[in-house]
Amino acid sequence: MRRALVAGNWKMHGSSASVARLLGELLQGLNSDAAQSDADIVVCPSHPHLAQAATLCADSAIAVGGQDCSAHAEGAYTGEVAPDMLSDLGCQWVIVGHSERRQYHGESDAVVAAKLAASHSAGLHTMLCVGETRAQREAGQAEEVVRHQLATALENRAVLDRLVIAYEPVWAIGTGLTATPQQAQAMHAFIRGLLREWSLDADGTRVLYGGSVKAGNAAELFAEPDIDGALVGGASLEAKQFLAIIAAAAQRAQAAN
Ligand code: PGA
Repeated sequence: MRRALVAGNWKMHGSSASVARLLGELLQGLNSDAAQSDADIVVCPSHPHLAQAATLCADSAIAVGGQDCSAHAEGAYTGEVAPDMLSDLGCQWVIVGHSERRQYHGESDAVVAAKLAASHSAGLHTMLCVGETRAQREAGQAEEVVRHQLATALENRAVLDRLVIAYEPVWAIGTGLTATPQQAQAMHAFIRGLLREWSLDADGTRVLYGGSVKAGNAAELFAEPDIDGALVGGASLEAKQFLAIIAAAAQRAQAAN
């Protein structure tokens, strides 16, 4: 059984005061419900808040991750953050290939693959985001797009170690439109099929769903056999919502035991 994982992508939100408040509420909520230890939990604040978050989450059930990293280990890359710098701040995780990076920062599949290789070399656990746009889905290209994104990123087979894949259909991110559990399950099964086709660890690799996940739809998504957790944006900024999503993931794990 793959261990459930719920990750919060806080995007460009927060201040030191709100980070302290949100993490305080999350840690308190988790302490009062031991059953939630059945799910791995990661929060990804923006870079300026990582050190603060890592300190607040030290020795807790919450791991901290960056939202992006450079493809380079160091050098003259103004504004970039090297994967080693994330580890140095106390991060164990990083997201690469988020659709907002692909869309607003022109990150190609090749750039995402280079970032994944760099984060892997630095020893980080990586969440690799893949997913099609609405136009691509309507044109019947969703599987082809996801196949290309994954094939490029996983060309270097070593990166599968410590990798989690997040399927995030672009049309469902921040729009309130969630893929139906059946739509998400179909793509997750397709992704697992690709891993199998490429002789990679299809059964052991976690595949998260992301795109308007909230307390109200988490349980039905997690009931699908190939959905191992969620990468949550908006709802991860509210402790009550995020804790409810974690509880739904933990319940799935308990139901399977
Ligand atoms: P959302 O974002 O939950 O706000 O749709 C998900 C994400 O971008 O990872």
